[in-house]
Amino acid sequence: MSELKNNIKLFGGALLHGADYNPEQWLHMPDVLDEDIALMKKSNCNVMAINIFGWSSIEPREGVYHFEDLDRVINKLYENDIKIILATPTGARPNWLSKKYIETNRVTETGLRCKSGLRHNHCYTSPIFREKARCIVEKLATRYKKHPGIILWHISNEFEGECHCPLCQEAFRNWLREKYDHDINKLNIAWWTKFWSHTYVDFDEIESPSSIGEYWVHGQNIDWKRFVTYQTIDYMKEEIKIIREITPHIPITTNTHDYVHLGRGINYWELMKHIDIVSWDNYPKWHNNTIENWASAAQSGFIHDINRALKGGQPYLMMESSPSATNWHPVAKLLRPGMQNLAGIQAIAHGSNSVQYFQWRKSLGSFEKFHGAVVDHYSSDQTRVFKEVTKLGEALSKMGELSNTRVKAKVALIYDWENFWGIDDSIAPNADKKAYFETCVEHYKQFWKRGISVDVISMDVALEAYDMVIAPMLYMVKDGVGKRIETFCENGGVFLTTYWSGIVDENDLCFRTGRPGPLRNVLGIWSEEIDALYEGEQNHIKMLTTNERYQTTLFCDLVHLEGAQALAVYEEDFYSGRPSLTRNVYGKGYAYYICSRNETRFFDDFYEDLLTQHGVKGALKNVLPKGVTVSKRSNQEKDYYIIQNYTDCEQVVILDEGTYASVFGVETHCGNLTLSPYGYCVLKKK
Ligand code: GAL
Repeated sequence: MSELKNNIKLFGGALLHGADYNPEQWLHMPDVLDEDIALMKKSNCNVMAINIFGWSSIEPREGVYHFEDLDRVINKLYENDIKIILATPTGARPNWLSKKYIETNRVTETGLRCKSGLRHNHCYTSPIFREKARCIVEKLATRYKKHPGIILWHISNEFEGECHCPLCQEAFRNWLREKYDHDINKLNIAWWTKFWSHTYVDFDEIESPSSIGEYWVHGQNIDWKRFVTYQTIDYMKEEIKIIREITPHIPITTNTHDYVHLGRGINYWELMKHIDIVSWDNYPKWHNNTIENWASAAQSGFIHDINRALKGGQPYLMMESSPSATNWHPVAKLLRPGMQNLAGIQAIAHGSNSVQYFQWRKSLGSFEKFHGAVVDHYSSDQTRVFKEVTKLGEALSKMGELSNTRVKAKVALIYDWENFWGIDDSIAPNADKKAYFETCVEHYKQFWKRGISVDVISMDVALEAYDMVIAPMLYMVKDGVGKRIETFCENGGVFLTTYWSGIVDENDLCFRTGRPGPLRNVLGIWSEEIDALYEGEQNHIKMLTTNERYQTTLFCDLVHLEGAQALAVYEEDFYSGRPSLTRNVYGKGYAYYICSRNETRFFDDFYEDLLTQHGVKGALKNVLPKGVTVSKRSNQEKDYYIIQNYTDCEQVVILDEGTYASVFGVETHCGNLTLSPYGYCVLKKK
């Protein structure tokens, strides 16, 4: 499906505003549907995602289908101009299915067959599960194929997890047979199985990693994770095939997780190859006492930027977010006045074309009865949350022109799933302090606070479109990646990486060419050893140009210069005087290497210099106040500036010269712009 078709069908010049809606929970209270529709209109909602967990309502018993209630909901929404995102209900199994067909229930890594219950926990290999899922998806698609209200398919819900049943074990072995050309020796070499005498004689001997079996063969672990991604997609493709056959005119999404699963589970770069529109579920811990609000915003911005990059920058959807407290957070904090609107606008600022919530209406019972919702148990339009949602809906209705714009980033940051898996498994140098995700976010913050757009990409993405590529802890360097980085620098690109990079290949086998392996040439260094520091222990580095000193902790890489120049040196220990920050001129470009984990002040100063030197600019020229950021979305005619204040006090932003026309939040403006606490505004310029 072409990007253009998607855009027109889905957005038609408007931004989406809505929620997950579960009317099936309220069928015994028939008045609720009418009340909901009235409240949806009132709150300026124009889209609802329905049927996400509706399987047992439309197929209450095996082969018995009841669509009347869903018909009524779909028709009512349509008659009231509320667009419909229709889910295949396969995110949770009905009890009749998991009771009768035990094989559809997952088996844990220790071999225990799970019982009926919960969700997102089916065996995706099970032929019976696949058959039952195909049946319900086919019925659904056939019934609603001509319905004009349906703008998007929502496949299942948050694919996650793994199953270790005999069917999955066999599928894993078959996947390995294919991968290793049916040659067990190839596998033994790739997995380094002579270690502890674990050589396999036949593929039949192989099992999935298990805490009561094998879990320290890193090549095996990483192949298992690849297989889990493959098998989940293989299942998803069965649903997609039916939908594409019956409703080729309706685009498809599947919603992905927030930071809790990011990098740890299914590789979203693979998953998203098969769908049309990316969507994700965003649950930041706003107003947290251990992390400043702006830092939460940066973390959330990082994930937005992955989702935007997953389909090359085309608009995506924020399918879920809490309009109030998130019940599963350890502290279910209320959003301070203004924060709900700001968090929604953040999605738009990063390139989403929707602000959607979980959930429309709070359920009366079970696990999510205290989760934030637009409509509370007492269904009043007078609640603070309802009023805030209404206000944002009104604002979004005035920003329709943004739906046809894009965020265009000239900087990329590599955050890679397979790299994550490899780093996670590595048993040194500071096993519990690796913090790959947090380290990437730490670098990303430097761009966020300067209002510089970043695409967060995998190591497989082409680099030509970027001026600067940041790749913290690029531990695994897959075949060809080193060469692509060399070409990028040769052509004038600026590349930056850090300690714990260029260590293993894609089988998680260490390079024999001297660290940082395929990056050694472009970086012009050889890393001989890496020291690990205890928590609380520190070293210092000194910048050679400014003599400025910075504290360094946890990781200290000891490198030799092979053409690169030292920009800083260590100050203490036996490696005092050795390089701690290097720069190599490579072709028309540069390659930087940060040897140690440094304090934030280093990042602030270093990036200020780096970005100035290489001419990387933010959306506005002037320095932004702490906690404020600006994102730019553009089309051929105009640039749109979405200016956001994540602090609880007023902030003043200095606009560039010239007059900015108003889209929302302030009148036509020039010069200084005052933002209220948690305030935002949207301006445009030719
Ligand atoms: C999401 C899920 C929703 C809901 C929500 C609560 O992960 O897709 O169904 O459970 O979390 O925060």
